[in-house]
Amino acid sequence: MQGPWAVLALYVATAAAINGLDAIDGKPTPSPPPTYNLTRALLLAEASYCTATEDQPLLPAELRKTIIVTKVVDNHATRAVIGWDASDRSLFVSFRGTENDRNWWQDAKFVKIRPYADYKDVAVERGFWRWYNFLKEDVAHQLTKAKAKFDPTTLFTPVRFYGHSAGGAVAVLAAFDQLRGSVYNGTQLKGSYTFGCPRVGSASFAKAFTSLLGDAENWRVTHRDDVVPHLPQEDLGYLHTPHEAYQKDEVKPDLIYCADSASHEDDACSNSCYPLGCTSVVDHLSYLGLVQGIGGCIEL
Ligand SMILES: *[C@@H]1O[C@H](CO)[C@@H](O)[C@H](O)[C@H]1NC(C)=O
Ligand SMILES: *[C@@H]1O[C@H](CO)[C@@H](O)[C@H](O)[C@H]1NC(C)=O
Repeated sequence: MQGPWAVLALYVATAAAINGLDAIDGKPTPSPPPTYNLTRALLLAEASYCTATEDQPLLPAELRKTIIVTKVVDNHATRAVIGWDASDRSLFVSFRGTENDRNWWQDAKFVKIRPYADYKDVAVERGFWRWYNFLKEDVAHQLTKAKAKFDPTTLFTPVRFYGHSAGGAVAVLAAFDQLRGSVYNGTQLKGSYTFGCPRVGSASFAKAFTSLLGDAENWRVTHRDDVVPHLPQEDLGYLHTPHEAYQKDEVKPDLIYCADSASHEDDACSNSCYPLGCTSVVDHLSYLGLVQGIGGCIEL
């Protein structure tokens, strides 16, 4: 390639890299990989199923050296596990959506609500909003306490949110509150990481969330034919927040970092099974080769 064409190609490639959008047809380009280790994120998401009290945290060996659980909050069958990650001096919250996830999905009726006075057009799914609100005040209070204990002198302590399934939806709602400010004072969002997460809100939610994200990252890992990431349906006006990391293969669980944006899901990633193929509960309960939910808890 020579002359003006080479310059144009370079320009297009640079513009695409800057915008995350292909300059020609407006389609997103593949995202760069996450900076945070998603296997570690998965183990932390799973902690909300397995850890019922802060006195006896049921954590896998990889986490025991660095993770300190400061509080477990249980309310209306939802749960948040809050603590300190000494590996990089950050706070974390691992959310569990419901006690009985599987039954909830079977009976779910989706209803959008618009709860944000500062983002009047932003709609979120009512069920996830309720679960988040059972936990929100306690989580904010416990994060403040954990910060006072482990990192009192830093102005803004890094925080990450994790969750599998409906717990992922709750983690995304917590991340949005963190980004909007005033709820999680004294913290700075580093990232939110979800596994088998449903769609949390409307397209305007995805847009508002992404516009506030700044240097923080937001990853949702999907697995093969997992049914949950396809609920509530895009046709009902729901849209995922980027970015998706797709586990397509069981044997080789390498993740594909998808080409999505605040206004587009990548139809070549988990959406490729939609509408007929995405019905698997088994795939929902297994991520990166590890069993999720209560079934994945280790015995001590
Ligand atoms: C990611 O985290 C897992 C679990 O802690 C660990 O086994 C693995 O070695 C880590 N991978 C990298 C590339 O650091
Ligand atoms: C956080 O800070 C804001 C502004 O200083 C204050 O209005 C709000 O009540 C604080 N929130 C909490 C949960 O402490």
